[in-house]
Amino acid sequence: MEFKSELLDSSHDRTEFSCGKEALDHYIRHQVNQDVKRKLAVCFVVADKDGISNKVIGYFTLSNGGIPRDSVPETYQKKFPLSYPSIPTTLIGRLARDQRAVGKRMGEFLLIDALYKCFNSSKTVASFAVIVDPIDDDARSFYAKYGFLSLPDSQRMFLSMKKVNELFK
Ligand SMILES: CC(C)(COP(=O)(O)OP(=O)(O)OC[C@H]1O[C@@H](n2cnc3c(N)ncnc32)[C@H](O)[C@@H]1OP(=O)(O)O)[C@@H](O)C(=O)NCCC(=O)NCCS
Repeated sequence: MEFKSELLDSSHDRTEFSCGKEALDHYIRHQVNQDVKRKLAVCFVVADKDGISNKVIGYFTLSNGGIPRDSVPETYQKKFPLSYPSIPTTLIGRLARDQRAVGKRMGEFLLIDALYKCFNSSKTVASFAVIVDPIDDDARSFYAKYGFLSLPDSQRMFLSMKKVNELFK
């Protein structure tokens, strides 16, 4: 199925979004606007274009970020000059698809679309890796399927921008 992402705006109906994870439902219904207004995140959505409803059926958020140098696996750390105590990264803060879109490969669409946006952004503002914050073990295994690795001593996972680049060569 073909999907298209667009920036969240006031025309989108977020009231019925339900992915099965309360925290992610609550975020898109009630919190995301504050984060967008405060420039903490941008939010892309996939909207159900049937008729005039414009209901959000998938979303993800992106932010610039940084992780402490010593939180990166040692193999990478060795390559980083000491002048970079914080390593630039791009965060997919949240990502979810509505239960109405089960079986349509929307999760994959959302992740690849988010990675493509991270990749494009890294061409103008450098980023060593894409970071995700999996909400639970299901989410961890979803990200692991796409090559994300655990960051040592953290619940977070990362995919190096080098690997992301290879996806879009
Ligand atoms: C995780 C989530 C985005 C996956 O979306 P989805 O639409 O079910 O995934 P897709 O149908 O696009 O699946 C793409 C591939 O990932 C696999 N996959 C889906 N969920 C998976 C999981 N939890 N663990 C491992 N693989 C998973 C599918 O089997 C499929 O694999 P295939 O290429 O071998 O057929 C969705 O379940 C969701 O929104 N969950 C609630 C929110 C959430 O947990 N978000 C994660 C970030 S915190």
